[in-house]
Order: sequence, then structure tokens, then C-alpha cells
Amino acid sequence: MERILVIGANGQIGSELVEALAAQHGADNVIAADISQSSLYGAKVYQVIDVLNTARLAEVVEQYHVTQVYQLAALLSATGEQAPLKAWTLNMDGLLNILELARIRGAAGKPLKVFWPSSIAAFGPNTPAVNTPQYTVMDPSTIYGISKLAGERLCEYYFQKYGVDVRSIRYPGIISYKSPPGGGTTDYAIAIFHSALRGERYECFLDAETTLPMIYMPDAIRATISLMEAPAGKLSIRSSYNVAGLSFNPRELALAIKQNLPDFDIHYAPDSRQAIAATWPQSLDDSSASKDWGWQAQIGLEQLVSDMLKNVKISDGALAA
Ligand code: SER
Repeated sequence: MERILVIGANGQIGSELVEALAAQHGADNVIAADISQSSLYGAKVYQVIDVLNTARLAEVVEQYHVTQVYQLAALLSATGEQAPLKAWTLNMDGLLNILELARIRGAAGKPLKVFWPSSIAAFGPNTPAVNTPQYTVMDPSTIYGISKLAGERLCEYYFQKYGVDVRSIRYPGIISYKSPPGGGTTDYAIAIFHSALRGERYECFLDAETTLPMIYMPDAIRATISLMEAPAGKLSIRSSYNVAGLSFNPRELALAIKQNLPDFDIHYAPDSRQAIAATWPQSLDDSSASKDWGWQAQIGLEQLVSDMLKNVKISDGALAA
């Protein structure tokens, strides 16, 4: 039986992952954790954990006989640029603490399977932007992207050197409606729905033609759980897998929203996030994920837009533009 700890449970991915894992493994077998207590998201247990506190991490893992950890606590791309050293410490040491714990427990005969998210931000201006290959130039220019690339190398290192069963996905921008976005460059594609449903004009911080890879949350959760359930022998990549959902730019997204809400209006006012987006891929080659663990995206733009318009709660409060 698996006992699963999700660190970063209050975040955009964490909150929905806890719910999905609790539905699948039973609420008793999932421990939600974050730096401050929030909701249980369907788990029975919530633990306050700072991922930088190694003693506390080890204590919770031991206490609940944890067999799998999802380490999702991080600062995202735009927020990371406001506080680069904080982002580096949280993103790198958070991962290292988990990998070290997995190494130590593995040596003691108590293996810990690890999931850690990488991102399209691990690519950079010299990466081929269209159908970006799994193996290619990676020269990230944000502190977040640098931490993701270094983290990928650490994951592979801990697998090769110590046999830690660590698995990772380079997530595209994730679109979802259950929790507010947390400081990402791709988050315009969430904020836009809140403006549209409030009947307000959306001021977009990216320009109209900035195409980025995106994925709708149900696909992202399915990808994550499928990768964690795949037989270890099938996995040829222990750094991080490219996973594609769909690709679109703000103009195309606005058009799809307009088909449902004809009065919707958008205005473009690119800010510093435009420079970040300009260095990221437009689309990804995810054939390794398809071949190794059967990945295939299911949700396209039309379905994403109609589902978001049905489910976004505009009373959620103010969102960053
Ligand atoms: N969605 C993230 C961001 O924009 C990329 O991983 O920062």
C-alpha cells in the first residue's frame, strides 16, 4: 500500500493532485503538506512542513511510513525574478532535501519514490522553439528556469548514483480554475477567464502572438499519476520528460473566449513577463513520454475554454493581471 506525501498542497497543482490521489488511494493514505495550514483537499491528514527543514521532513516521512513524495513547493518564473535568491534556495534546497532523504531511506531499505516538477522554463533563447526536442540546447534565462535545469540534473544524478526512483515532467503552462495562479508567466491564460466572466476588458501582459505550450489541469494530473505508476523499467529518462498538451497564443485564446462571450474584449500591454515568454518553446515533442509510458493529451482548446467558462468562480478574489 502506498502512503503519499504531497508538499506544496496549497498550490495550483498540489491542491488538485491531493484530491486525485485521495480519490484513488483513499483519504487515509494521502498526507497534504504546505508551509501553512489551509484546506485538506480531500486528504485526512494535513501537516505543516517547511521543505527547507530537513529534520521535520524526515520526521513526517517516518511517522506516516511515507512511500511516495511529490515535492511541489517552489517559486514560479515571474515571482522568482522578484526574489532570485529566495527562489534559488527554495527550489534547489527543497528538491535536494527530498532527494537526500530518499537516498538515506533507500539505503536503510525504506525506499521513497519521488516526483518533482520541471518546466518549459528550463529551455531558453537558443532552444529550437517549435516541436522542442527532448534533448536539445537548454540555456534558461530566469532564476526559476536555471533552478529547473539544475534540478533535472540532480534528479538524474540521484537516480544514476544512488538508485533513487525519481520521476519528473517538464510541465507546460497549466490552466485550471480551482485555485488562483501563483506568479507564473503562463498565468495570463487563467486570469483572462476571470476578466471575461466579470465582463471586464482583459489587459494582457503578453503580446497577441506569443505562442506557448499549455495543458489543462485534468490532463496534467493524469500525466503526473501515469508517470508515477509506470513500471520503472519502462522509463528511459530520469531527468524530466517533455509533456505536451496544446499550444496557443493570447489572440487565439481571446478568439475562443469571444465565441462563447461575444462582448469579451482584450488589450495588450506586454510587461517584463513578455521577455521571459519569448525565450520559451512554442510547442514540445513529447514522443519519449508517449513511447515510454503511453502519454497522450486529450483536451484541446475548445473543451478547455468551455470548461473554464463553466467553472471559474469570479468571487475567488483579485488575481494578478
Ligand atoms: N507556468 C510556469 C510559469 O509560468 C512555467 O513552469 O512560471
